[in-house]
Amino acid sequence: MSKTAILEVNSEKFELPMVTGSENEVAIDISKLRDLSGMITLDPGYKNSGSCTSEITFLDGELGILRYRGYSIEDLAEKGHFLEVSYLVIFGELPTASQLEQFEKDITRYTLVNEEMKSIIDGFPKTAHPMGVLSALTSALTAFNPRSVNVENEKEMYEAVCKTMAKFMVIATWTYRKSMGYPLNYYDNTKGYVENFMRLMFELPTEPYKQNPIVINALDKLFILHADHEQNCSTSTVRMVGSSHAGLFASISAGVSALWGPLHGGANQAVLEMLEEIHRTGGDADKYLAKAKDKNDPFRLMGFGHRVYKNFDPRAKIIKKAADEVLSTLGVNDPILAIAKKLEESALVDEYFVSRQLYPNVDFYSGIIYRALGIPTDMFTVMFAIGRLPGWIAQWKEMRENKEPIGRPRQIYTGHPLRDFVTSEKR
Ligand code: SDX
Repeated sequence: MSKTAILEVNSEKFELPMVTGSENEVAIDISKLRDLSGMITLDPGYKNSGSCTSEITFLDGELGILRYRGYSIEDLAEKGHFLEVSYLVIFGELPTASQLEQFEKDITRYTLVNEEMKSIIDGFPKTAHPMGVLSALTSALTAFNPRSVNVENEKEMYEAVCKTMAKFMVIATWTYRKSMGYPLNYYDNTKGYVENFMRLMFELPTEPYKQNPIVINALDKLFILHADHEQNCSTSTVRMVGSSHAGLFASISAGVSALWGPLHGGANQAVLEMLEEIHRTGGDADKYLAKAKDKNDPFRLMGFGHRVYKNFDPRAKIIKKAADEVLSTLGVNDPILAIAKKLEESALVDEYFVSRQLYPNVDFYSGIIYRALGIPTDMFTVMFAIGRLPGWIAQWKEMRENKEPIGRPRQIYTGHPLRDFVTSEKR
């Protein structure tokens, strides 16, 4: 592979260095392009632009490969546990048994959320979408943890990681409790992380809460599958906000807002709403495929397509298999699973989807499992956020440790040329 690229414009040549990653991905380094040529590149949506180098996640969209720190998503989903994989994503290595035990113990040091946070959540209407409440509460955590973390101090960074993993999940469940008018629960430090998630969500003071190991295992796997995904929209947002040296909570709060969008993490809720509408209107999957293909119809087949995967999203394959297992083990017969499978089967042989390389993504089947586990639809994207938290932390930490510059893209101006101010009586 050549070490440099030559850009020729109006017979002037500019030499630019090339960068090759550890998986042989190749980039042209344009960081000196404007100094050399006075020109910039233009790439709306950054479809062809890399924002950074990273050691956290590798994905190959053509081959449908996803690895966290070199470990395949298939291996991690089958053999790992969420806090173990979170440790890997954030610190770079799978923890030893004692490191994992210490990590779980250190997280429990921060599971009590400041009681004054309750007066903040009380200010929201019960009808507020949980993602909006979660973004606000995450930002509010800064008020109770004002000292921004010194990333150069390993102990401080480790404590900030444990504090974030602890408090974010608790306040995420509070968004649901608030919407139901239930009392806000406390974490039980004698129980596991995912077990606590279910308790915090569903335990009522009026009766003992009975855990279901099938649900715990399914959720643990789902959180692993969402843990990171390189420079997606919300992670790039976390890195961008963090690049101004805004704090970790403030950066994650921005990431929650970006994830909320229906083109991104909000798609898992939109998929369920789409499947329920298809079911409600008679189950005619082909009618909705036709709508998705109609350029005059804004309807998109939610849960299909991906900016990077031009093959099956490996997570979708794992979640689809898990959906079958979980629903049959729980004895849930959900007609929308059959509708989802029919949509997938039809789309995979339909020229419109095939020619555009549109396959099911992580959001297509996840909502079906969440629903079977008793998670309400408007909490689906909150589930995505809980899973993605270790990735956001890891990417923020890497960006700060690498001393990346503040993110500030250029633009090409296409507005008015210079013009003189005209006083209002002459307009
Ligand atoms: C996530 O980036 C990540 O890694 C994200 C994520 C993560 O883990 O962080 O993987 C999580 O966000 C998954 C994606 C969830 N979103 C959805 O399921 C929403 C539905 N899908 C899309 O809107 C779309 O596919 C995107 C947003 C996911 C990707 O959009 P791109 O890459 O910008 O592609 P595009 O919009 O330019 O579409 C290319 C063509 C267009 O048709 P033409 O103009 O070429 O004729 O494909 C069509 C689009 O109209 N198209 C779809 C479609 N997705 C793309 N047509 C119908 N239904 C769809 N779902």
